[in-house]
Amino acid sequence: MAIFSVELERLRNRRSIKWARWEPDVLPMFVAEMDVETVPAVAERLQQLIAEGDFGYPELPVYQEAFASFADWMWDWKLDPARDIRLAGDVMSGMRELTLATTEPGDAVVVNPPIYPPFRAVVRGSGRRLVEVPMTAAGRLDLDALAEAFAAERPSAYLLCSPHNPNGTVHTRAELETVAALAAQYNVTVISDEIHAPLAGAAHVPFTSVPGAERSVVVTSAAKSWNLAGLKAAVLVAGSEAHDVLDGLPGHVAESASHVAIEAHSAALDGGRDWLRQASDEIAQNKLHLRSELERLLPQVPYEPSEGTYLAWLDCSDLGLEHAGRHFHTVGRVRFNFGTDFDSAAGQFVRMNVATSPELITEGVRRMAASLGHS
Ligand SMILES: Cc1ncc(COP(=O)(O)O)c(C=O)c1O
Repeated sequence: MAIFSVELERLRNRRSIKWARWEPDVLPMFVAEMDVETVPAVAERLQQLIAEGDFGYPELPVYQEAFASFADWMWDWKLDPARDIRLAGDVMSGMRELTLATTEPGDAVVVNPPIYPPFRAVVRGSGRRLVEVPMTAAGRLDLDALAEAFAAERPSAYLLCSPHNPNGTVHTRAELETVAALAAQYNVTVISDEIHAPLAGAAHVPFTSVPGAERSVVVTSAAKSWNLAGLKAAVLVAGSEAHDVLDGLPGHVAESASHVAIEAHSAALDGGRDWLRQASDEIAQNKLHLRSELERLLPQVPYEPSEGTYLAWLDCSDLGLEHAGRHFHTVGRVRFNFGTDFDSAAGQFVRMNVATSPELITEGVRRMAASLGHS
């Protein structure tokens, strides 16, 4: 049974953002939620909590232990759950708290546009100075530009997105080693958001496992890879010389993770490994399917599948639209994330979510093409 095979009528009953936000005739292919049934291991754990009336505060270090076990299994990344891992309410609040803890008001903080919009909000909202080092035209980290920015702007922190959202780039070990060396040279704390990493599997390299990244912190969770965004919890993982950063965080950071979320995320990490592998395989197939449907129906939109995430970053420049995302919504009745939210220069881009059935991917592309008068 395919994971990405939930019927459209069932999806339309959902009350989370993806299915509740837009008009009922609009096909939502925007926010990073997956069109999947509950992961069986998670459903089992949640049912156990319901049966026991177990809805209190968290006590046991189950998330820390489950993440350490998963990290060892997936990446051979050896972590001590008690020493190296702390809880947070979700990934973005973890990113914000770590930015506050490792920088001073007015300090420069680097991000790489096009970038998941809350990264900018974290920097601006915490009163730090945003320094943008764009990804290359090929969608990779621009290591020369990063070196220049570190030398010229003297940032205190760098918010790395690994894998990268929106374009799905999985950074190579060599790229990350260069980042780590630069960070060590210029004394920059790297705060690495690895929420999309489990789905990328062995291709992903955890940042703090790279030599030179000892003062860095990884922020991650099971929320994206097992579709648990509504159950808020995350983990912060200290590099071997960054324990003081985690130990210095205010108590509310760990206290904002909920008991139910911690149980659900740990169940996914422990019992959802086969499911993850299958989901990852199906996403790779979905990306190939998207490529072939675009070639067939809308060849002006080029697309090469990325290694990571279930997101496709589509350049619609050749369609001659004033604002591609708005056009597809208002005329095509298919809603993507708008490129401008990720990069002010990306008005011709949209971000499509392919964590859905191949049929709905075809329907999304059909709606794009129909909106342009192509049948
Ligand atoms: C790169 C990235 N970080 C963080 C998040 C949000 O995570 P959380 O809900 O745990 O804050 C997302 C959600 O799509 C994301 O893509």
